[in-house]
Amino acid sequence: MAQRFTSQVAIVTGGSRGIGLATAEALAREGASVVIVSLNEERGQTAAGAIRDEGGRADFICADVTQRDQVERMVARTLERFGDINILVNNAGVHDSAPFWEEPAELWERMYRVNVLGTALPSQAVVRHLKDNGGGAIVHVASKAGVVGEPGHAAYSASKGAVIALARAMAVELAPCSIRVNAVCPGPVMTDMLHAAVPTREGRDQLAADAPLGRVGRPEDIANAVLYLASSDSDWCTGQAVSIDGGLSILK
Ligand SMILES: NC(=O)c1ccc[n+]([C@@H]2O[C@H](COP(=O)([O-])OP(=O)(O)OC[C@H]3O[C@@H](n4cnc5c(N)ncnc54)[C@H](OP(=O)(O)O)[C@@H]3O)[C@@H](O)[C@H]2O)c1
Repeated sequence: MAQRFTSQVAIVTGGSRGIGLATAEALAREGASVVIVSLNEERGQTAAGAIRDEGGRADFICADVTQRDQVERMVARTLERFGDINILVNNAGVHDSAPFWEEPAELWERMYRVNVLGTALPSQAVVRHLKDNGGGAIVHVASKAGVVGEPGHAAYSASKGAVIALARAMAVELAPCSIRVNAVCPGPVMTDMLHAAVPTREGRDQLAADAPLGRVGRPEDIANAVLYLASSDSDWCTGQAVSIDGGLSILK
């Protein structure tokens, strides 16, 4: 197997399960030391332990990505533990849905707090290290909902559109520091989040049937794209929002 991340250190927020876990596992398999950041201590420790059991290097840090002090501690502890940071994957996110005219202000605040601020704060803390240490790569996990119109989750969609705009703004400002910033925009991926959003088997089957490629995504489908954007394979790519969605976003 290719070892694109030997001697590199990656932080994956929301790495305890779903897309983040698949990304953390894939990074570790390709040689990276991985720090998993999430809220649930038991889930996070289990995820990091499973990577170590497979021979990888991984640690868990319990931190809320919306809290500046916890994010600063995440960076400090990563540097203490592994001595460097080269890659940040801003994957932690939340989803909720309601008819647009009924979405309460608290739902809007939560979507923006976790999905947008929870992408900006880890980025700021990691960039302060990267800019003085030769640069690096940052990948935001946005969503197809931030690219095309979808009914039923306007606040989530708007927050993911903001994540894509943030990737572009950061990419321009940070390119002179050799820091690349890109986003991936997943379609529906089989995780806890999708099960909560689409609780019925029929509903998920319909999502699969709607996709030109005839299935919903696997967490590994997204991890593969994140690894490309985090690796030197994409050295001339910054500020892009890459759709990984079985072709759903190309439909009229
Ligand atoms: N699944 C999909 O269909 C889909 C589609 C498009 C985009 N996405 C995006 O992909 C990303 C991952 O989604 P997923 O489906 O893998 O979700 P998931 O299974 O619900 O996992 C979410 C992860 O985020 C962590 N998290 C949530 N709030 C956090 C906070 N404040 N601080 C730190 N960690 C926090 C969770 O930690 P705990 O385990 O500790 O709770 C968990 O590790 C999200 O940004 C989501 O919006 C998903």
